[in-house]
Amino acid sequence: MPKGRIYEEALEILADAGVPVPDDLTKETRKLILTAPEAQLAFFLAKPMDVATYVEYGVADLGIVGKDVLLEESRNVYELLDLQISPCRVSVAGLPDKKTVNGRIATKYPSIAEKYFRSIGEQVEVVKLNGSIELAPLIGLADRIVDIVSTGQTLRENGLIELETITTVTSRLIANRASYQLKYKRINQFYDQLKQHIERRGSRDEDRQSE
Ligand code: PRP
Repeated sequence: MPKGRIYEEALEILADAGVPVPDDLTKETRKLILTAPEAQLAFFLAKPMDVATYVEYGVADLGIVGKDVLLEESRNVYELLDLQISPCRVSVAGLPDKKTVNGRIATKYPSIAEKYFRSIGEQVEVVKLNGSIELAPLIGLADRIVDIVSTGQTLRENGLIELETITTVTSRLIANRASYQLKYKRINQFYDQLKQHIERRGSRDEDRQSE
């Protein structure tokens, strides 16, 4: 399970799909492992950027992770399902009317940023940061940033504007490759449960829109 921003929505989709979620998961807790013994499930709470690492190494069979992380890290895992939660985008942003000063791009996503600027034939220097990326152009570390935009509040409150959308992002269900073979029945049951829930929710949304 990814801690932070995606957490609430990830928990909600599991609970709504009928996955037995331990009570502790819905409370404020500093515990990192929570179990639902009756369902033989253990939940590990990791930083969103680390979820795919735990799954790739097989210490977690399944994970919920943003597509941004998968694009950035190219982990050797199966991407099973688009959970269609936590929609956002990876964008280039900067100060309005700001000319290129140092050619630097600050980001938590160096690989996505490098690939993007290479694809448009622009030479930049990518500077890796770990958070509060919006600070960088404000105090001159970089001309622009590549970062997640969700509501746009962080950009707005810091006087920045979105310049280009690189890609849209939702959360995905991923599986360890060996676990997927060895625990196929269990994982597939879990997959079906979530998939059916997403489809039901999708058709409910369509009905609502046509009303
Ligand atoms: C993310 C992202 C932006 C912000 C975007 O940061 O890096 O800063 O959310 O969301 P908004 O468009 O709804 O304002 P996060 O809060 O995950 O923390 P971080 O800055 O420490 O990376």
